[in-house]
Amino acid sequence: MLPAVYTDADLEAGREAILGGWSTGSEPKIILTRASKSSIWDADGREYLDFTSQAWSNNIGASDPRVLDAADAQARQISHVRSNYDSIPLLLLASRLAQIAPGNLNKVSFCLHGSLAVESAVKLALKNSNPAGPIIVLHDSYHGRSLTTMGMSWPHMERALDSLTPPVMRVRQPYAYRAPAGVTPQEWAARCADELRSAILACKSNRPSAFVMEPVQGNGTQLDFPREYYQYVRDICTELSWCSARRQVAATR
Ligand SMILES: Cc1ncc(COP(=O)(O)O)c(C=O)c1O
Repeated sequence: MLPAVYTDADLEAGREAILGGWSTGSEPKIILTRASKSSIWDADGREYLDFTSQAWSNNIGASDPRVLDAADAQARQISHVRSNYDSIPLLLLASRLAQIAPGNLNKVSFCLHGSLAVESAVKLALKNSNPAGPIIVLHDSYHGRSLTTMGMSWPHMERALDSLTPPVMRVRQPYAYRAPAGVTPQEWAARCADELRSAILACKSNRPSAFVMEPVQGNGTQLDFPREYYQYVRDICTELSWCSARRQVAATR
């Protein structure tokens, strides 16, 4: 609940108290107060169409009554469960996600936000490769603001921290809009996939632990890639999985 009375000075004091890098660092400094469906209002009562859906989090529209009712009912039962206990919604959601996810994607790991989800995937990949190798990512990809995902994202303001993050290699993304003149999106997808294959094969002594690609790159472009690209990537990863298999055999000798 907002305090009944606050002054502009209270809000300015709040802004001063926030560590740099938060959204209030950018102009114009819009203070959001309420949202409904695709509309959002600022503290002066101005209504905007929210084309960002608040980083796509309100993807069924803001303040949807079904979400509000479910959150309210759950919070009244039990509002917080730490991660080493089960709860009924947690188990039912995990089982539902495992059912609807394609293929053999049948394990669920709940994360608080996108950066942690990518970071968890990277941890799994590093844990399962012996020795851990570089992570391959797409140019202009954005994966988040945790230490590892910052290192994987490009361009990023905090390049100074690169030396502290797992080594990363970058290959071009098949973004059709930026394809060289005269090259069709499909040809561009094939060329970018070839570049991925070459990058994996070029890591002779230190095979990559993972190729991390988010089908819609978010801040790196809001468009998905030609469909063929995803199949190329799947095929390349399957074809070159001998790299990691051979390494595991070598490690057990
Ligand atoms: C493609 C992509 N990956 C990861 C993230 C990081 O998600 P979060 O901000 O929830 O940590 C974002 C956020 O914008 C994103 O667009």
